[in-house]
Amino acid sequence: MAETTPDDREHTPEETEPSPEHIMQVATGFWGTKVLGAAVDLELFTVLADGGLRASEIERELGLHPRATRDFLDTLASLGFLERDNGDDPRYRNTPETAAFLNKADPRYIGGAINIFNQQTYDVWGGLEESLRTGEPQGVIDETGEPLWEEMYDDPMELEAFAEGMAGLSKGNFVAFAEQFDFSDYDSMTDVGGALGDLSRIVARRESHLSITTTDLPEVAELARERIHTDGLEDRIDAVSSDYNEEPIPDADLVTASLVLHQENLETKKTLMEKFYDAVNPGGTFVAIDHIIDDERQANTMGLMMSLNMLVYYGDAFDYTGQQFVSWAEDAGFEDVQIQHLKGPASMGIAHKG
Ligand SMILES: C[S@@+](CC[C@H](N)C(=O)[O-])C[C@H]1O[C@@H](n2cnc3c(N)ncnc32)[C@H](O)[C@@H]1O
Repeated sequence: MAETTPDDREHTPEETEPSPEHIMQVATGFWGTKVLGAAVDLELFTVLADGGLRASEIERELGLHPRATRDFLDTLASLGFLERDNGDDPRYRNTPETAAFLNKADPRYIGGAINIFNQQTYDVWGGLEESLRTGEPQGVIDETGEPLWEEMYDDPMELEAFAEGMAGLSKGNFVAFAEQFDFSDYDSMTDVGGALGDLSRIVARRESHLSITTTDLPEVAELARERIHTDGLEDRIDAVSSDYNEEPIPDADLVTASLVLHQENLETKKTLMEKFYDAVNPGGTFVAIDHIIDDERQANTMGLMMSLNMLVYYGDAFDYTGQQFVSWAEDAGFEDVQIQHLKGPASMGIAHKG
């Protein structure tokens, strides 16, 4: 008897007809981005931090139009970002997640990242089709050829907002890294492109034996220094201003770089791998944290979209697969190179120096 193949089974018309549901979900995905972005921008979750408010109170507090209030709040509740009771003028409260991560007064706040996605990234992605045709970045490298970082240095508020946004994106990865990685064989660590020093501060609190350096461009290093001081960690972490394209990387037993390799083109990636190798003390290790793409380029949708994000921001920068990381690391001289999953779409590439 012939085996039954899936095609031989009887299907109802609904089962055999393809559904446009997934297409529509993705097509309207930005509606959710904008609703959440507006709520963060209006500081709704911060306003609700003291136990919640009624619809009429939120309307007054945030200056909303009566036509908009209930649609806005009920959409947020339906998306799982607010809890609501019943009645004509219902009370809205934060969920455990929005209370933790979207209340400005909480140290776990990641609203900076939401603001970046909702405003800057949303605008830049408006030019995706242009980038797809030309390979050129959209709006971040200006007429004079100045890249994003250079422009933002003129505006400390914008720079800080961007750095906060980055930290929001990365904090979960840093905690996973601090929990998973065995630091016992290392006495020193340098985090390259460490922004506000979040990775260094998270590791410093857990690993009291490590002497830590965080590096970034001058204006960002200054912001890191302030945060380190506020946290009382100035004896543990040195915030150094250092351009990784121009200067050697401060050496250490363990060198880390999060969301750094992915923002560079192939040539700079390879040069950086050599610099990382030079910076790691003999017997030490280099760790790259990125949204490393699976070798089949299939499963890590966020990693693939992050690479498109690099296209619209920088043109020739791109996210990479585990296999690519292994080959660049080995070319630079590293041994025993591995990829280890961290959290969500993020993994670490671990490379040892003999
Ligand atoms: C995408 S952010 C990542 C920040 C942080 N490591 C994280 O994972 O959240 C890249 C960082 O690299 C820094 N950076 C860019 N070019 C640099 C350079 N040439 N030298 C040193 N740092 C640089 C930026 O200022 C920024 O803080």
